[in-house]
Amino acid sequence: MTKKWSASRAPAGRIAYVNGRYLPHGEAAVHIEDRALQLGDGIYEVTNVINFQPIDEEAHLERMERSLREIGMAMPMGRAALKLVMREVIARNRIPNGLLYLQVTRGAVRRDHVPPKDGPRPTLILTMRAQDMAGLASRMQKGIAVSTQPDIRWGRCDIKTVQLLPNLLAKQAAKAAGAFEAWLIDADGYVTEGASTNAWIVDADGTVITRDLSNAILPGVTRRIMLEAMAEGQMKVVERKFTLSEALAAREAFISSATGAAVPVVAIDGKTIGQGVPGPLTRRIYGLYAARAGINSD
Ligand SMILES: Cc1ncc(COP(=O)(O)O)c(C=O)c1O
Repeated sequence: MTKKWSASRAPAGRIAYVNGRYLPHGEAAVHIEDRALQLGDGIYEVTNVINFQPIDEEAHLERMERSLREIGMAMPMGRAALKLVMREVIARNRIPNGLLYLQVTRGAVRRDHVPPKDGPRPTLILTMRAQDMAGLASRMQKGIAVSTQPDIRWGRCDIKTVQLLPNLLAKQAAKAAGAFEAWLIDADGYVTEGASTNAWIVDADGTVITRDLSNAILPGVTRRIMLEAMAEGQMKVVERKFTLSEALAAREAFISSATGAAVPVVAIDGKTIGQGVPGPLTRRIYGLYAARAGINSD
């Protein structure tokens, strides 16, 4: 019999935080009228945790505040208090290296498109899980394949909302095509970003290119810290749109996210990128990023 995954069969000892309470992961729940469940009315953040420390924490909390502001919500608690809850969740899970998810929804209230004026109490959820470190190491070493998919998302991709249906459909299609990530292509033939990562290429001159910030992409925290690290490392970087043909002709390509910084892309739609192996600039960028983010990259 195949073993099916179920939330209530989560590994023993996993702890989630929901609205002020620390609960066994399998027992943690929100109300059926929660607006995230009914309407997708919520935002989220993910931080990498290394050696019990959240990575790029301030930048993630800044973006969280921004996402909330853009949907007309305030932070459910002050930043200092939230940092304490984050640390408590990490400590209680006893997971040194993992991923910490923070979700804020507009709360549970009788279903209506228009949020009530004096809205319900927001729902705050923190969950933590271990990272597949071996899988990540293998992707860093061998590189990944990406598959292009049409970008069918909405006009505010700069908000990190829990509404991820187009992203997951793209990722599912990419997986079916034998790829690890989907690169989304806009109506004009430009790459916007990955389904859950930012997209980068290195051109023949060694210039690093990633799409400029707008409503078309998520302002990736890893992207931001990487750009700072590259500026400090005096690397040539341009933030602009690039086409799929540019990507196919690139010397190197990679993806960035909190879940995996500078993961090399060695094939796009089955076509080899560069030498078909992780490139030296991608490795250098990872090193610069890791140093800036306080990660031991050995
Ligand atoms: C659509 C999308 N783009 C980019 C990223 C990378 O952002 P970050 O570096 O903040 O993880 C993510 C991360 O989840 C994402 O979902």
